[in-house]
Amino acid sequence: MTKAKEKIVLSYSGGLDTSVILKWLQDTYRCEVVTFTADLGQDEALGPIREKAERLGVRDIRIVDVREEFVRDFVFPMFRANTLYEGQYLLGSSIARPLIARHLVEIAKEVGAVAISHGATGKGNDQLRFELAANALDPSIKVIAPWRTWDIQSRKQLIDYAERHQIAIAKDKRGEAPFSIDANLLHTSTEGNILEDPSVIAPSYIYQRTVDPFDAPDEPETVVIGFAEGDAVSVNGIVLTPAELLTELNRLGGKHGIGRVDLVENRFVGMKSRGVYETPGGTILLAAHRGIESITLDRAAAHLKDELMPRYAALIYGGFWFSPERQMLQALIDRSQTHVSGEVTLRLYKGSANVVARSSSASLYAMDLVTFEEGSGAYDHHDAEGFIRLNGLRLKSWATRNSKAGPGHGRSGPI
Ligand code: ARG
Repeated sequence: MTKAKEKIVLSYSGGLDTSVILKWLQDTYRCEVVTFTADLGQDEALGPIREKAERLGVRDIRIVDVREEFVRDFVFPMFRANTLYEGQYLLGSSIARPLIARHLVEIAKEVGAVAISHGATGKGNDQLRFELAANALDPSIKVIAPWRTWDIQSRKQLIDYAERHQIAIAKDKRGEAPFSIDANLLHTSTEGNILEDPSVIAPSYIYQRTVDPFDAPDEPETVVIGFAEGDAVSVNGIVLTPAELLTELNRLGGKHGIGRVDLVENRFVGMKSRGVYETPGGTILLAAHRGIESITLDRAAAHLKDELMPRYAALIYGGFWFSPERQMLQALIDRSQTHVSGEVTLRLYKGSANVVARSSSASLYAMDLVTFEEGSGAYDHHDAEGFIRLNGLRLKSWATRNSKAGPGHGRSGPI
């Protein structure tokens, strides 16, 4: 009897890179490779992926529909914080990696694999996200990152390797360097190739799931999103599961050209990188969530969330989803959402998603306090007088000192 081969679980997309990695792992480690492909709603036929893996001799092929898990356990918790990295990026790739890592680690445990492997390059953020998550979930798991290990240094060498081993290469992969694209239910990101020069305007053909706002319908469309405890639960009165809901918002957003962002971001590994993102449903959802929070969150609670949000975003961006500090922040964010329920109406029109109405049975908005008409008496105008006097005291001292000290120095005068 021959000894069973050791196993490695590979995150497999079916693309050129991970197909070459599959073969390379088999040859280099003389091991059995188990493939894991997450159906994250990337809108790609999954059948050919199975065939490709079969052709490469894989016996244990896992293709798992994780769309609900992705939106319910990763996207929605993140959206409770109104998360944006560096003010613009909705973290569509960043938030998918910990989910994939968790599945890789679980499968590794199940089949008794010695290691997991991924196709992220040595220059990007994704390697961090896969590996830091794996470290946190199973301290004993080994991670093999071929792009950092093997002697393939270029796309040309990658293609040569594929040709030598009869791995199918898509036509457009032979010529010019392709774009690096990552897609899931939350977004599509496009990087590399001509986009590497941030001074070059992205050509329109790179956009995949949104129309150019210029070509979007001339008629605005109104959509009503229902929220329960911080999560979106319905669209136009129809209750949907998390993945169904995001799919529907993607359809609406795509049609109206919503959620295109062309940006330069600071990668965690030190360099700047230019990317083009399309996050149609997520962009609508962020606006809607802010809309419902605007009437249901107390001021100090809302401001505290806003202060912490960039920290939380940086954690997710840097691969620290499974970390004590992210969990602590999540507990705080989740606690804030208890009364974030109600309905938000948005108008979608040529690239924009604007909140036009909001209502909630848990609203803190007090019409009789704010009204220009006669109110209930809970607010006494004289209180405002004293309030302003006390706050103005230090400003008066400051202004008096400045006028005595004469004209200021430098550009902006005295401070
Ligand atoms: N720059 C983005 C991020 O770090 C997107 C990365 C997408 N990954 C890819 N394989 N193209 O989150």
